[in-house]
Amino acid sequence: MTSPVAALLGLRPHRVDDTALRHRLAGRVVVVTGASRGVGRAVAVRCAAAGGHVVLLARGASALAEVADWIVDHGGAATSIPVDLRDLDAATAAGERVVAELGAPALVVSNAGHSIHRDLSAYVGRLHDVTRLAGVNLLGPIALALPLLGAMREARGGQLISVGSVAMSLPGPGWSVYTATKAGYDAWLRSVSPELAADRVAVTSIHLPLTRTTMSAPTYADSRIPSLSAADAASWVCRAVVTRPRVVSPWWGRVGAVLAAALPGAADRVAAATWRRSR
Ligand SMILES: NC(=O)c1ccc[n+]([C@@H]2O[C@H](COP(=O)([O-])OP(=O)(O)OC[C@H]3O[C@@H](n4cnc5c(N)ncnc54)[C@H](OP(=O)(O)O)[C@@H]3O)[C@@H](O)[C@H]2O)c1
Repeated sequence: MTSPVAALLGLRPHRVDDTALRHRLAGRVVVVTGASRGVGRAVAVRCAAAGGHVVLLARGASALAEVADWIVDHGGAATSIPVDLRDLDAATAAGERVVAELGAPALVVSNAGHSIHRDLSAYVGRLHDVTRLAGVNLLGPIALALPLLGAMREARGGQLISVGSVAMSLPGPGWSVYTATKAGYDAWLRSVSPELAADRVAVTSIHLPLTRTTMSAPTYADSRIPSLSAADAASWVCRAVVTRPRVVSPWWGRVGAVLAAALPGAADRVAAATWRRSR
């Protein structure tokens, strides 16, 4: 049940027209990265229930096989491709394999991600973590998307949905490299979306708020901050499959982004006060 505060903040499931979702996906190929757990798993299960042939990507082969088995046991179709997106050659090969074996996808949900909550000083001597986050959140998703988007453009249709974060427009202290790498991928999408639109390939950026998953647990497990469940987040993605908006974001994310752009000094002062309080 959604609390009144969560409802006010728009943190509730989005209503999905299941008939329209089925119309978009039945018998078509749907690629979901980060499908082994959390938001990606919930999206994959829902797309498979709508009749999509779901291609599941993540590193953990056994977790992927468990999701694929669950989907098949429930009458759906799934193929798993274990891949570490930080390995750019492997990410490219995974995209090429999907196209060669299954053809152009109707939907790509670029959802895999990794976050680290850490102050600037703690990054000293840990440049490998910067590279790690850039690999999962920015470079790997581009490497995977290039062959997939090429096939979608040739087929003249499809949609790429990126699961990003409200932090992309409202960067918070402690999330520096995570935010930079997520925002980098989103900027790439904003830049290429006109080219893709010319070939009838739609792009949607989802700006997710806090969602209760393995990713958020280390920082927010005991927090009372209003949040989504993975299933709620999947409903945001599935509604976007039906309605194809350019951006899905809670209202306060959009308002905050406009205010931060108009009043950058004030936005920095609020962020600084937040950081001081967190120490
Ligand atoms: N949870 C939140 O509060 C929140 C808020 C805003 C945005 N988001 C975004 O939502 C998306 C889903 O996050 P989540 O909360 O569902 O996280 P999660 O439960 O930690 O799941 C992350 C998924 O990404 C996969 N993954 C991680 N590293 C990978 C790599 N190197 N190569 C391939 N796959 C990799 C993981 O599988 P393996 O470990 O097996 O590879 C897993 O399937 C992310 O993009 C995240 O940035 C989350």
